[in-house]
Amino acid sequence: MQGILPETRVTAVRQGELHTKSATAQRTEAMGAALGELLAPGDVICLSGELGAGKTVFSRGIGAGWGAAVPLSSPTYNLVHEHDRPDDRARLYHLDFYRISAAREAETLGVYEILDSRDIVILEWPERLLDILPAERLWIDIVMREDDGRDLHLTAQGERHAALLDDLRQALGAMRRGTHVVGD
Ligand SMILES: Nc1ncnc2c1ncn2[C@@H]1O[C@H](COP(=O)(O)OP(=O)(O)OP(=O)(O)O)[C@@H](O)[C@H]1O
Ligand SMILES: [Mg+2]
Repeated sequence: MQGILPETRVTAVRQGELHTKSATAQRTEAMGAALGELLAPGDVICLSGELGAGKTVFSRGIGAGWGAAVPLSSPTYNLVHEHDRPDDRARLYHLDFYRISAAREAETLGVYEILDSRDIVILEWPERLLDILPAERLWIDIVMREDDGRDLHLTAQGERHAALLDDLRQALGAMRRGTHVVGD
């Protein structure tokens, strides 16, 4: 046996976590908008949660905060929605894996090219195709509570997404204190 054991050379991947709540759909959308304002090319946002949890509501907020030309709507039927931002011609993909169960189907829909691109990607039902997802991503679990509120659990993988989560934590703090100005 020679040298250092391989596992001692593995660089720790920076991770981050944030747990928060949203009492209303409007609030969930506003939280999405706060995230949308911070997104950069290559960011991958995975939105997990039961049917009706609020994944599309949150996505709609992301699109508005990011500056999509057309409001985001549910991609449940078309599975892949492409959005443009007129300001700088940046692109954002909003995908729904609910009805995709096989990697082959994802390939036919061009999902691999989208995930390899430097465009922003939002994914609903990401757990359906866990194997093909990029390792670096912001994962958001939306959990329904009995009172209509939602618990949001956010976990970042990788340096960039951890930094994104730090920025979001600050933005949500400012929103709570009522000091957030849209477009700030
Ligand atoms: N606190 C809340 N946050 C988000 N949505 C809420 C909240 N309270 C009530 N709602 C309602 O829950 C519904 C969420 O629907 P949405 O389409 O976003 O769910 P989804 O997770 O995308 O479902 P699907 O799996 O079918 O795509 C909306 O009708 C919204 O108004
Ligand atoms: Mg949806």
